[in-house]
Amino acid sequence: MNIFIFFIILFTFYVITSYISKLRKFSEKNDPKGPSVIPVLGNLHQMGKLPHRTFLEMTKTYGDVFRVWMGDYYTVVVSDPVIAKLILVTHHDNFLNRVQNPTFSLTSNHYQNLAASRDERWHHNRKLVANSLSKSKLRSTVPVMEKQAELLTITMSQLQKSGRPFSPMKYCKKYALNIIFSIVFADEIPYEEGVEEGRFGMLLHPLDTVFKTLGAGSLVDYITIIQPLFYAYKRFTGTEMDPIFNFVSKLYDEHVATLDPNNPRDVLDVLIIDSEGKDRVGVIAVTIDFMLGGTDTSATTIEWFLLFMANNPDIQEKVGKELKEVGGVNGKFTLANKPNTPYLNAAIKETLRMRHVGPFGLPRETRESILLNDQVFIPKGSQIIICYYGMCHDEKRWNDPETFRPERFLDGSEEKHNEYFLPFGQGPRNCVGMNLANDEMYIAISNIMSNFIVSSHDGKPIDDTENFGI
Ligand code: HEM
Repeated sequence: MNIFIFFIILFTFYVITSYISKLRKFSEKNDPKGPSVIPVLGNLHQMGKLPHRTFLEMTKTYGDVFRVWMGDYYTVVVSDPVIAKLILVTHHDNFLNRVQNPTFSLTSNHYQNLAASRDERWHHNRKLVANSLSKSKLRSTVPVMEKQAELLTITMSQLQKSGRPFSPMKYCKKYALNIIFSIVFADEIPYEEGVEEGRFGMLLHPLDTVFKTLGAGSLVDYITIIQPLFYAYKRFTGTEMDPIFNFVSKLYDEHVATLDPNNPRDVLDVLIIDSEGKDRVGVIAVTIDFMLGGTDTSATTIEWFLLFMANNPDIQEKVGKELKEVGGVNGKFTLANKPNTPYLNAAIKETLRMRHVGPFGLPRETRESILLNDQVFIPKGSQIIICYYGMCHDEKRWNDPETFRPERFLDGSEEKHNEYFLPFGQGPRNCVGMNLANDEMYIAISNIMSNFIVSSHDGKPIDDTENFGI
């Protein structure tokens, strides 16, 4: 038989079996409902450019917990806080692992980091990283955040004086990356080094690309039959991760060469000491977690905040007035001011609600089949997506969810403790960087807003449509 015909037969067999497998029922009456499927793609073709919005629409037809087939992956999409809590907290062990796919594999040195690791590896990594980011350890990082915020505002003042409009994005990223650098490498990228050059310029593009792929996934993550080809191709061409791996590998070797086990200088030293220098690949992977998890997330949220201020001058005025009344210390704002700025705090929460940096979080996998709440059956091996976007934009749960309105998070508002607001997830595998993110966002935003009035370059509202991905 000629090889071409052989592949056609193989492919036809795959198409038919993949379709039949998508039609099967897992439980008599408790399978979540979902849209009809097509072979191979399942429901991928229906997801559109903004899958999180599509999923929100789907809740109207199929309810707050529904199923889709993302290619070969049976996926349960959850926008219900009760079921989300059962998954993330009550039965956390059954849903602890992430799914395995090419994106996670290539960005984690084959599941060795924290964000994509599984089972024992995860427990070990999580303990180490959570310890490095504990509240008590972060206290020593506050002066670093304050210094970086000061450098950020100085740079913005210089840009303002030039009279030309500028986008704050790269500067916010530099702020966040420098905080991570100081925690992890006891180092910082000098401000004199522009945002287009040096180490920052070299890291920015790969970090951006990897971060976006992590949030949005790619077709190859869902169609298993093409994965071997993809891995082979990437082995040949290299990946966007390579410059980041090379960068951190060099720092790892420098740290090993100058290590004093009794005096760890930074998180990288702590990781090397813990692994007795025997887990180079794993330590590098965890170090990269800090850079990937800790840069775009907070920086993008700060940028969204500034955009909402530019588009809502009345709200910006209230934020400015509150900061003026509180006054800061020597004109600078720090965490000690936070209890006195409830309106600003509410505006930051509202930014997280409006534009969550990861509308699907990081998907989990089901270890064993389980029936939740006597109504939702989830078979072993399913992918679980907690739809943070859907939970925050459901008009049944929020008044006017598409409007930026910090007042909903103020005392006296019935929405203040809305259980649908879970920006950092819940349970043992929630966001390990939550405290760091909250601290650095507050320090940067309070200092920017007490120094500047933000507006669009042409006075018109800025388009606030998001892209899909983190
Ligand atoms: C606005 C800021 C941030 C938001 C909204 C956010 C949100 C999230 C969410 C929803 C998850 C998934 C949790 C789950 O699986 O249930 C997560 C995981 C994670 N986040 Fe964040 N995050 C932010 C900032 C940060 C920062 C600053 C770091 C710095 C280190 C970080 C590091 C991580 C890591 C390493 C994980 C994986 C944890 C694990 O698998 O154990 N995040 N984040």
